[in-house]
Amino acid sequence: MAGEIGRKTEHWGSRFGFIMASVGSAVGLGNFWRFPYTAGENGGGAFILFYIICVLLIGLPLLMAEYAMGRKSGMSAIEGIQSLARAESRSQNWGVAGWVGSLTSFFILSFYMVISTWLMAFLIQSFGGFEGMDAASSGQNFVDTIGQGEHPMRSKWYMLGLLAVFLVANIIIVGRGVKGGIEKAATLLMPAFFIMLLVVVGFSIANGDTGKAVSFIFEPKWEDVGFKTFLAALGQAFFSLSIGVGLMITYGAYLEPDTNIPRSSGLIVASDTLVALIAGFAIFPIVFSAGLDPSSGPSLFFISMPVAFGSIPGGAIIAPVFFGLALFAAFTSSISLMEVAVSWLEERQGVTRLGASIGVGYVLFMIGAAYVFSLEYLDFMDFMTEGLLLPLGGLLASYFAGWVLSREMLTSELGEGTIMNAWRFLIRWFVPPFIFLILVFGFMDKIQDQYHVPLPGFLTMLLGPNWVPPAG
Ligand code: TRP
Repeated sequence: MAGEIGRKTEHWGSRFGFIMASVGSAVGLGNFWRFPYTAGENGGGAFILFYIICVLLIGLPLLMAEYAMGRKSGMSAIEGIQSLARAESRSQNWGVAGWVGSLTSFFILSFYMVISTWLMAFLIQSFGGFEGMDAASSGQNFVDTIGQGEHPMRSKWYMLGLLAVFLVANIIIVGRGVKGGIEKAATLLMPAFFIMLLVVVGFSIANGDTGKAVSFIFEPKWEDVGFKTFLAALGQAFFSLSIGVGLMITYGAYLEPDTNIPRSSGLIVASDTLVALIAGFAIFPIVFSAGLDPSSGPSLFFISMPVAFGSIPGGAIIAPVFFGLALFAAFTSSISLMEVAVSWLEERQGVTRLGASIGVGYVLFMIGAAYVFSLEYLDFMDFMTEGLLLPLGGLLASYFAGWVLSREMLTSELGEGTIMNAWRFLIRWFVPPFIFLILVFGFMDKIQDQYHVPLPGFLTMLLGPNWVPPAG
């Protein structure tokens, strides 16, 4: 049966625009907010080492696969995968990989928007300065009380107002389409972002405790390493590169035939990883010079940075730049997350792009209003998406690209030669088994760690020294 949905006829305005949109999607809260605390909680340099391995050997091949499948099919994730399956006379059920992705991106956006709203609140606050703030009175208090809307400066209504502003901005950009909305926003915001990043890093290195930051980033703490370190690194790699939800399939569908996929993918992966490391150099020197703990979890960013900016000379000037650049990065990522759900509605339900954007934005706002910034919801969704759904989406997509599609199917996209050989080897023999193993063992390791669920004896043996018997 031929689908009613045809190939996309729209294309990226330019190769630069495509790269900016992709880098804009990849570089986001994952780099600033999530990467530093995840590294802090998972062995510092050891985590960063695993992270780079995951990015190069899992992330890069999968990103190439997503772009290649997108351009080959000319469609977004679900239809794209189905049409490729059809071409190979395989089951339409492979479309499930796209379904998982659409759902996952929606879940991610449901907490992504909340963190972005915090960023907005901090940006506004930063204009007034953070002088005299200490950990007990500022960020800690903010994060602790925000869930109840009890923070003295930030009522629940104020936060919901900011959330509405954030979502409306998303709706406007996504509603304008890929070329006129997403590409344009990224082309304007990302260059500004890079300039601001350099300013902040320069400041941080000059004024913070750079020595301690360097040893934290490069010295591995092996005692903190277990299966869950791999799972954390893998989940972080998927999250940071925006892969595993089929978004890059959609972006690939808008690619001109002459854009070199392997080269562009390499550039995007390198930029994202570089920004994560540079963000580490923007954050850790300041965290250490303020005498704060880098492994304080999701609130690291929001507790440490205001305190640090309040105590460092010049901090009052640099703080708005810092929160502003993080907000730019978050915004160009959130529009890409919204695009996944919107393009699905637009294609399947026959609504207009703007109508779809408004619908998605409305549902998100309702979710936001219902759980009003509860940290439990955030924790749970973060765990479900990074710990389970993203790797699962990646597993399905890589298995599909490596084992269901024939080599010939993607030669038009990836070429024929060394790159194709290496890519095909990884996507068949390395990526799916690796994700599978990490998912199974990492997930169990994490479950018992977090909820103290006892594991069967043979798993205890396999999980090794990191497994601690649950109390009681
Ligand atoms: N990569 C973004 C970040 O690091 C988040 C993001 C945007 C994302 N689009 C995505 C994550 C698609 C997974 C899938 O903040």
